[in-house]
Amino acid sequence: PTGLEILDNHALAVDGHGVITHRAAFPPGGAATGYDDVVGWVGRNWGWDGGFEWVRPGGEGRGWWFPGFVDTHIHASQYPNVGIFGKTTLLDWLNTYTFPIESSLSSLTKARRVYSACVSRTLSHGTTTASYYATKHVASTNLLADICLEKGQRAFIGRVCMDNDLNPDYLRDESPEQAVEDTKATIAHIDSIDPTHALITPIITPRFVPSCSSPLLSGLGALAKESALPIQTHLSENTSEIALVRRQFPAHDSYSHVYDTHGLLTPRTVLAHCVHLSLEERMLLKERKSKVSHCPVSNTSISSGLCPVRELLDDGIEVGLGTDVSGGYSSSILVAAREAAMVSRTLAALTVEDTRSDEKEGQWGAEASNDVAAKHSTSAKDRKKLSVEECLYLATKGGAKCLGLEGKVGGFEVGMQWDAQLVELDAVDGEGGADDGGDGDGGPVELWGMETWGEKVAKWLFCGDDRNTKKVFHSILLNGYATRKPGRAFEV
Ligand code: GUN
Ligand code: FE
Repeated sequence: PTGLEILDNHALAVDGHGVITHRAAFPPGGAATGYDDVVGWVGRNWGWDGGFEWVRPGGEGRGWWFPGFVDTHIHASQYPNVGIFGKTTLLDWLNTYTFPIESSLSSLTKARRVYSACVSRTLSHGTTTASYYATKHVASTNLLADICLEKGQRAFIGRVCMDNDLNPDYLRDESPEQAVEDTKATIAHIDSIDPTHALITPIITPRFVPSCSSPLLSGLGALAKESALPIQTHLSENTSEIALVRRQFPAHDSYSHVYDTHGLLTPRTVLAHCVHLSLEERMLLKERKSKVSHCPVSNTSISSGLCPVRELLDDGIEVGLGTDVSGGYSSSILVAAREAAMVSRTLAALTVEDTRSDEKEGQWGAEASNDVAAKHSTSAKDRKKLSVEECLYLATKGGAKCLGLEGKVGGFEVGMQWDAQLVELDAVDGEGGADDGGDGDGGPVELWGMETWGEKVAKWLFCGDDRNTKKVFHSILLNGYATRKPGRAFEV
């Protein structure tokens, strides 16, 4: 999590099934002089006789391949509402904005427009894997699965379960049995379009405890056990929500324990938010090996709180990133990674400690550098901050671990899938740029030519956007295999 492995002047080879088969510096012992040399070198050293397509970053030193992003928590059904949340907090936000938009997706015509736009948009942001909430409607949830398959986005598709009378009349499951049956209908549909779940996997989705009866939670827990499928839900997002759960299930030790007693905390469970967990709850998640989807943009937008990610990581809990559209206003995981960095710095700033340690030694500091206590205290504050490397880890490998895709996506090791994005930054002088000027449509980041690779990546994290994501390579299903059709890069 704390390292960034930079493979300068390297080549990767990807086979017809989209699997990375080779990785090496090129050419051995010398500088590459051009395209033909590289092809010749690959031909000689890897025993190939040509017939492959080369894709290289353009703009000398301004571009690189980066693993595709993993969004561990996104409501495709709420995509039309991005940016619309006013001053609401979770429970009134749900009633005011969220339940109405989800209800409208009973229309397949509307669902097609919304889901096509959402999948295209997240792909353009470099998201090659996403774990989606659709709605309670089976037909439109199944359509979301079809659209992900067609557009080639690795996806987990959740039919949203919500049966108790805290849900509005117009958006509520008839009964717990019906909700479980409808979940099974979506599972059957996905099994029919992608039998091996090479690309699309069903995910069992109780909306959150306040929306679900105890029989529904038990039914979904039993279904998870018999199917071994993953689970996604929300946990400990907002203090009013937590109070509601306490009134709903007064005999349970905590919000987390409600899920646990219904069989819903498994190693394949992804829990969004987890902003206000107690130490006991964190220990329970750790014991169950359940995963956390950190959704910092959403947590700030609807003012849910500041998630102490460092503590979760220190406890050994696996964490990934979620956009949580439309609690989160952006469908970009780059933005979520940036906000993860910012929230961690806010937490560091709010940490109360010995004021003598506020300035480090040296020019600005009143304290002598041999003040051991002050030094120690400052580093405790600093430790709350997530580094660039950590934020990008959460956006890729961390998310992959949460979704059971470790070793398959999120990196460029041999044997992994070529789920990748081509990033290019803009030169300030426009030299070799995407257009005729450095401040043109190449994107918002300026490079001055003296940056190290690590600094370029930091500039991308904090200043970049989808204009810098030039191409996205992702999976399409061909003859039952996840593969890349040559040239079928997603053109932004
Ligand atoms: N809790 C229950 N439903 C939702 C939802 O749609 N979004 C968020 N952020 N939290 C929820
Ligand atoms: Fe959510």
